[in-house]
Amino acid sequence: MWRFASILVIDHTAFAPYNQCMNRSTINSNIEDCNSKTPIAFIGLETEYPTASGERLRRLHLDGAASPLAAEIALTTIEKVLPHYSNTHSYVHNSAQISTKALAWAHDTVLKYVGATPKEYATVFSGSGTTAAINRLARGLSAARPDRKTVLVSSMEHHANDLPHRQFGNEVVYIPLLGEGATAGALDLTFLEKYCKEHSRSVNYIAVSSVSNVTGVRNNVEKICRIAHEHDIFVLVDGAQSIAHGATDLDQIDADFLVFSGHKVYAPMAPGVMVAKRSILQQLAGQDLGGGSVSSVSFYDYQFVDNESEKEESGTPNIIGAIALAAVLDQMMAYGHRKIEDHDQSVSGYALTKLAAMDQVTVYADLECQRTSALAFNHKSLDHGLLAAILNDYFAIAVRNECFCAHPYVSSLLKDELWQLDLSDIDEAEQESFINRKRGMVRVSFSLYNTLDDIDRLITAISSIEKDINKFAKHYTAQADGSYTHTDFKLDWKSELGLDQLPCA
Ligand SMILES: Cc1ncc(COP(=O)(O)O)c(C=O)c1O
Repeated sequence: MWRFASILVIDHTAFAPYNQCMNRSTINSNIEDCNSKTPIAFIGLETEYPTASGERLRRLHLDGAASPLAAEIALTTIEKVLPHYSNTHSYVHNSAQISTKALAWAHDTVLKYVGATPKEYATVFSGSGTTAAINRLARGLSAARPDRKTVLVSSMEHHANDLPHRQFGNEVVYIPLLGEGATAGALDLTFLEKYCKEHSRSVNYIAVSSVSNVTGVRNNVEKICRIAHEHDIFVLVDGAQSIAHGATDLDQIDADFLVFSGHKVYAPMAPGVMVAKRSILQQLAGQDLGGGSVSSVSFYDYQFVDNESEKEESGTPNIIGAIALAAVLDQMMAYGHRKIEDHDQSVSGYALTKLAAMDQVTVYADLECQRTSALAFNHKSLDHGLLAAILNDYFAIAVRNECFCAHPYVSSLLKDELWQLDLSDIDEAEQESFINRKRGMVRVSFSLYNTLDDIDRLITAISSIEKDINKFAKHYTAQADGSYTHTDFKLDWKSELGLDQLPCA
């Protein structure tokens, strides 16, 4: 039987909003009736790891932007569904009926969670995550409007919302940010408006994140959609970093496509999700053809089903993962988007204030920007790889470092620092690895289970490290790729997972 390491019952009164700048009008009204007392439990909050000092410490997970911990309800839902498990697309036997109806409920629950009217929007479960959904859309939209070769992509995108658009004969034009270098902010909407007006007939769609996975900076996607639609340009919103942190009112935003990953919203076993306007899906040729998406097939021809979700979901979908995701979303709606936003703003705002107050720390992006859940920073006396390694090895604090699959954005934030590097005393053969150690940042990102105490633990750890840098640094070897490895401490991952007990291990 599974043992859940911890159950966190979230009490939002503990989080006096620290930096309340969310637009409350975007909160989905249909959650107001829900029971706001619903507790949300997460798996693994009490997990401990050995440290290089020889103790075992409870890990602190500040890497939710990559993947937050799993909500317990995702797992208990799977345990409930598995005894009834069967493939979908049939109503003949009981289990098939249950699977088919539960999958339909999962589609509907996603729409409810993102505030999308079912008549206008359809949910499509697609591959393993956001990446799969975006690749699919890039392919479909390019084929649907071959006369419009330009795709506008924001300059702060994850590679998943950049590289797919460079294919299929598209010309990508990057939308600049307000400001430059380390203090750049959100997208420059004046540029966007002007570009759309001047090139309205050649732009197919705009690809933009609602929240940056590097800096947590929020874009005004509602305004972007308004500008785009004046020129018959579609908008694809990458919601990977906003989906877990509050309301998405798709009816209000009017985006044509919203994509996100189930694993970014506490359901690691879930598929990728695309919510799309039905009217546009009807114009796209169905992709990944096979069973499930067609109503009739002869040797010469085939007909798609009328249902837009089914047309896009050929083959056997990730039924269990989709149902688990819907259960998590249901629980989050019951808890309330507003409380989730208040929690996010409290924890993120507190972290920003504390980090920005440290003399040796630079927090990237315009400090006045609206942000959600992620912060990227550097310490003047510690390379990003060294700081991240020490935080993990000595303090069991999990942060992420390097460029977070957003190389162009990170490089532009670091532009001035990298230019100013003094290489005169560094051997030519060593220069590349020296630059690699400087090309990157540390990112902390927050989830529903993180508390203000967690931020204090992080700040205390950074302060302890900076007081005695050499005591820690002398145990590390710098690698050519910019990472640092401890000279004698290494985690035994197999024994942590108990996999060393398997018969053939
Ligand atoms: C903004 C953004 N888009 C896309 C992705 C890719 O998500 P996935 O790896 O689940 O496909 C990520 C992952 O970190 C992300 O943060």
